[in-house]
Amino acid sequence: MSLIEVKNLDKTYYSGEIETPAVKGVSFNINKGEFVAIMGPSGSGKSTLMHILGLLDKATSGEYFFDDQNAKYLNDNELAFLRNEKMGFVFQAFNLLPRTTVLDNVKLPLTYSKKEFDHNEKAKKALADVELSNRLDYYTNEISGGEKQRVAIARALVNDPSIIFADEPTGNLDSKTGKQIINILQKLNETGNTIILVTHDKEIAKHANRIIHLKDGLIISDEPVE
Ligand SMILES: Nc1ncnc2c1ncn2[C@@H]1O[C@H](COP(=O)(O)OP(=O)(O)OP(=O)(O)O)[C@@H](O)[C@H]1O
Ligand SMILES: [Mg+2]
Repeated sequence: MSLIEVKNLDKTYYSGEIETPAVKGVSFNINKGEFVAIMGPSGSGKSTLMHILGLLDKATSGEYFFDDQNAKYLNDNELAFLRNEKMGFVFQAFNLLPRTTVLDNVKLPLTYSKKEFDHNEKAKKALADVELSNRLDYYTNEISGGEKQRVAIARALVNDPSIIFADEPTGNLDSKTGKQIINILQKLNETGNTIILVTHDKEIAKHANRIIHLKDGLIISDEPVE
């Protein structure tokens, strides 16, 4: 069953007189449990597409169904609910709160959650999964880049999302730390999570089961990984 269904999706940015078509009529489905890598040159529309799939932005035209719900007809509350309860986000800029501990950063998504969790236990478990149990009380401005990236992953998975969106989660990291991040994502995929990963790195993309290549806002190939 398709978790994601995209039909003829367009996204054009408008600023003043300038129109930038970023995604130009793409169509694809993603099933529950898939691990999809999205590749393509800078400016090809990868992040734009991720933002639409993550319900952080709207398409200009075309259809996007998440879990059989048409994004076009969802109101702000419904969008926020889906993002919070079903999705986890790991973006390159981490978006961690500084002068706030690692543990509190990871607990944040639970604040609005309707799921019944012991917040402390749940956040500690997520941090144990990314091997950061020894950093719970550190401030996020006092840890390394790779550790920050792992905090961002723990925060993305603390709410048991069904899908994780990761936009270049290994960018700016050395190859060993990058590998550690990809191993975490792969483990999450093995336990049933759907993963959509944007990466420039061919070696990293090989960990996915499928690679979608974008160029100039179009899908130029969509193939399983051997
Ligand atoms: N907020 C915006 N306003 C106007 N144009 C934008 C905006 N965001 C992105 N664009 C443009 O849309 C196109 C696609 O951008 P996008 O960020 O999706 O590319 P990308 O594939 O993620 O690139 P990168 O690998 O560099 O992150 C680019 O031409 C970019 O300049
Ligand atoms: Mg991008």
